[in-house]
Amino acid sequence: MVEGYKKKIWTDGCFDMFHYGHANALRQARDLGDYLIVGVHSSLSINQEKGLPVMEDEERYEVVQGCRYVDEIVKDAPFATQADMVRNYDVKIVAHGDDIVLDKDGQDSYFQVRKMGIFKEVKRTFGVSTTEIVGRMLLNSRGSYSMQDFSEETDNGHSAYHCNLLSMFKASMTREKKGKIVFVDGNFDLFHAGHTTALRIAKELGDYLVVGIHEDKTTKAYTRTEPMMNIKERMLALMSCRYVDEVVVSPYVIGQSFVSKNSIDVIGPSFDSKDLSRYDGVREIVEHSYAENKFGYLSAEHIVNRIISNYQNYTDRQKKRNAHH
Ligand code: CTP
Repeated sequence: MVEGYKKKIWTDGCFDMFHYGHANALRQARDLGDYLIVGVHSSLSINQEKGLPVMEDEERYEVVQGCRYVDEIVKDAPFATQADMVRNYDVKIVAHGDDIVLDKDGQDSYFQVRKMGIFKEVKRTFGVSTTEIVGRMLLNSRGSYSMQDFSEETDNGHSAYHCNLLSMFKASMTREKKGKIVFVDGNFDLFHAGHTTALRIAKELGDYLVVGIHEDKTTKAYTRTEPMMNIKERMLALMSCRYVDEVVVSPYVIGQSFVSKNSIDVIGPSFDSKDLSRYDGVREIVEHSYAENKFGYLSAEHIVNRIISNYQNYTDRQKKRNAHH
């Protein structure tokens, strides 16, 4: 093999409301070569094909770029993968999940690259999709969604599936724990560009980033609402973020023993940490100077509100998408 040669892989998609199914597709695609290029469609083109996405272009670009399996993104990639484009990028394989992708005219979006003989399928992740997450939120907005319903469903074999995904994601996190250890914690529900940016800023405070995640019941106790994604799902999204070196389940109040056990040198309260008194016991290691988070306006609540204010639009889209699946 020529020195410095990189086998380039291409994959593309909408990556709306980035979830661990997307991350798992990117993980598998990256494994097919040495360099992964991800084409992300613009909202304009998604709207023409399957209806308005929930997340805006810059929000989707940021979160895909923040995924540890991604080497490069191509913004506003055409919906149907173009032979010329992948040739220009010197791509050897085009990958996509093993679901049929048809455009609005019923055409397979990959026909050009299938003809070139470079198309490969990766395994689609079972039990999660943007459509399904939006469905959870629509149910929740009417008060009929409960994590309980979802947990029962997930226990039906889903749980073992999630554990298996967790160990595969963990295998990609190989950084040695040394240097200045930074800690941030939170809910990390509906993983979005605000999280990616906060984690990047936190990582810049040191060398190794430990992220504390709250259990579903902890979240419920302090936000009074159920998280949309359960703890395993939230963990998977976090683990796929390039700035995260370790994920631990953490208590709401951070004390000295937790800090010592995890060798934490500095705590960077995440941008949505409203209650800073929970760090009072370890006040001297809390960092308060912060770079600006351009996506600081995003939160689970904000996203749910976007969906509710576009309720009719999204219910129509859901119907259309369900009919396709
Ligand atoms: N994907 C996957 N597993 C899922 C969901 C998506 O492997 N549960 C993959 C898709 O097959 C594709 C990539 O993630 O390769 C990007 O998918 P995207 O274009 O965002 O759309 P969908 O396939 O429609 O996924 P979703 O229903 O979540 O919108």
